[in-house]
Amino acid sequence: MTTRDTQPHPRRISGPVRVGMIGAGFAAKFHMENFPAGKAAVVGVTSPRASSREEFARRHGITAYSSVEEMLPHVDAVDICSPPSSHAEYMRQAAQAGVHIIIEKPFTGFFGSPASCTKQQMLDAVHAELKTLRQEILRSGITLGYAENCVYAPSVQKEREVVEQTRAQILRMQGEESHNGSHSPVYGIWSVQGGGSLIAKGCHPLTPILYLKRKEGMARLGRPIRPATVSARTHTITKLPGFEDRGFLRTTYQDTEDYALLHVVFDDGTVADITASELVLGGIHDYVEVFANNHRTRCHISPVRVADVYSPSHEVTKDLYFVEKISTNEGWIPCPGNDNWANGREGELTDIIGAIHEGRPPECGLDLAIDTTLALYAGYVSAEALGREVPVPLL
Ligand SMILES: NC(=O)c1ccc[n+]([C@@H]2O[C@H](COP(=O)([O-])OP(=O)(O)OC[C@H]3O[C@@H](n4cnc5c(N)ncnc54)[C@H](O)[C@@H]3O)[C@@H](O)[C@H]2O)c1
Repeated sequence: MTTRDTQPHPRRISGPVRVGMIGAGFAAKFHMENFPAGKAAVVGVTSPRASSREEFARRHGITAYSSVEEMLPHVDAVDICSPPSSHAEYMRQAAQAGVHIIIEKPFTGFFGSPASCTKQQMLDAVHAELKTLRQEILRSGITLGYAENCVYAPSVQKEREVVEQTRAQILRMQGEESHNGSHSPVYGIWSVQGGGSLIAKGCHPLTPILYLKRKEGMARLGRPIRPATVSARTHTITKLPGFEDRGFLRTTYQDTEDYALLHVVFDDGTVADITASELVLGGIHDYVEVFANNHRTRCHISPVRVADVYSPSHEVTKDLYFVEKISTNEGWIPCPGNDNWANGREGELTDIIGAIHEGRPPECGLDLAIDTTLALYAGYVSAEALGREVPVPLL
């Protein structure tokens, strides 16, 4: 039997892409708001707790399945919105069944105890897993969309256009995602999340930064410019003996950091600096700034100020939604109008579903997901050595 005969085949799609949700929590909820009408139809959901998957299914008029295996025969694509430790196994199952994949960040990682090994061992394990996973996905012929919303933020897409059209050379970039700590009870546990701020938050600005350098490389040199080395530091500020907890920041991190700094050197010698933390009040602080040889752009990702709303008292506006993760609706409130548009969650699913229909790669796919993951774990190796420069072992 030839290799060709044993390859799974992606499902043929004539109507809307039939999507099965994996996970019924926060990310699944905002994904449900953003599937392009007429192009995708969410038909099923699975998650471990019967009560939550059945409630989710009832709310959306879809079928609850007790497992991914049970759901796979009924869908063209899965949308993986479960905790990071489950991502790789679900991607493998979907690829084996010829089912397309939409996968939330972070792509995958190392999910043992950080006390059980060195960070180099972690990076080696992640590298080996990514290599196999990549082969399985490519062999399956399916489309994989890495749902990194920041790549699809209108501000980042505008900057892509500027870079491509003016053949700009990006000299340095700066990016951040920070807020006051995740809502998820399993955040802060390495074996579930694969790390702390560096991976969970740092991935958000890192992927659009890697994306823009790829686009620059293709426009100017006919090849993607990719990360070569990283240096990083991580800290757990809320665990310092002198930290005074005033109750506004989450502090329940089991074995992960709450602050990270990553310096990336690209293969053309240019650089990017990324900050990620759980130490920021005032809502999500999410941006990428580009310093090029012919222009400079501030990509606002969150908040994006379409309106500034002033509320003299929390009572006036307490039942209204303005912007993600702000702790009070009082005073001046930066308001994006439509969060999902401003932070790229809308554009992300439109592109990935379009890519599945058209059999083309999405803007944010497997290669970016893999480069992001390897750069982050090389970052952990560097942080363990207090900032030593570490090569990114690209596939
Ligand atoms: N792009 C973004 O801005 C963004 C924001 C939040 C979360 N996320 C990502 O989305 C994913 C889910 O995070 P969340 O905030 O929705 O978490 P959550 O805790 O709110 O929801 C997770 C859901 O997955 C289910 N689940 C748990 N273990 C599972 C397993 N083994 N198999 C299948 N389902 C399982 C849970 O029951 C729950 O329904 C994570 O990868 C997270 O990093 C992305």
